[in-house]
Amino acid sequence: LSPEPVHHTLTSWYHRAARDLPWRREDCSAWGVLVSETMLQQTPVARVLPRWEEWMRRWPEPADTAQAPLAEILTVWDRLGYPRRALRLQQAAVAIVERHGGQVPQDVDQLRALPGVGEYTAAAVACFAFDQPEVVVDTNIRRVHARIFSGQALPGKTFTAEQRRLARDVFPDPQADGGQLACTWNIAAMELGALICTARSPACSACPVAKLCAWRLAGSPPPTEEQKTR
Ligand code: ADE
Repeated sequence: LSPEPVHHTLTSWYHRAARDLPWRREDCSAWGVLVSETMLQQTPVARVLPRWEEWMRRWPEPADTAQAPLAEILTVWDRLGYPRRALRLQQAAVAIVERHGGQVPQDVDQLRALPGVGEYTAAAVACFAFDQPEVVVDTNIRRVHARIFSGQALPGKTFTAEQRRLARDVFPDPQADGGQLACTWNIAAMELGALICTARSPACSACPVAKLCAWRLAGSPPPTEEQKTR
């Protein structure tokens, strides 16, 4: 399946249908994007929103976060869960101050070298904060790729080399338009996975790419045991 029609259809759906989230706005700082991506790793958007607002109100810059008392950090983090993420975020702020003069670095390798920042978060910040056409892959995006391009119900629990290849193969040409389409592609696939192409009850009748989807065209076969657990 050629990805070009999917690029067009899915990104125009995104412009119509995406949620207006504060970390997606033009005026959101790169630090705000990093804070949001860290919070969103294991916590749903609705619970992140008030915590993100509070965090950004108190500590709008990495330098503010670097100096914040740990007790306050943990209070604001509160029930987001996995509080180690909050400690790592503060360590990242310290590293940003020490290594990068207080500015979130744009380079993926420099991002990746920050405490608590893995492959996903580095690519997400490079793309969503700095408009760099990095291939972003999270659970939602893997599921969307598996369905549209591989005809599979679920991608399985682990991120395989084959899936990494698929994500690169279907990625829009980063050179085409300064990387704009590529960045929108990432966030559009993520949003489709969050709103329509959900794991348990996908809303295919509302899906903009249903007519192009290999899984749908194959009659939406249920997940195999292997896909459920792999
Ligand atoms: N926007 C950017 N990254 C996001 C994420 N991880 N979850 C929801 N919306 C996002």
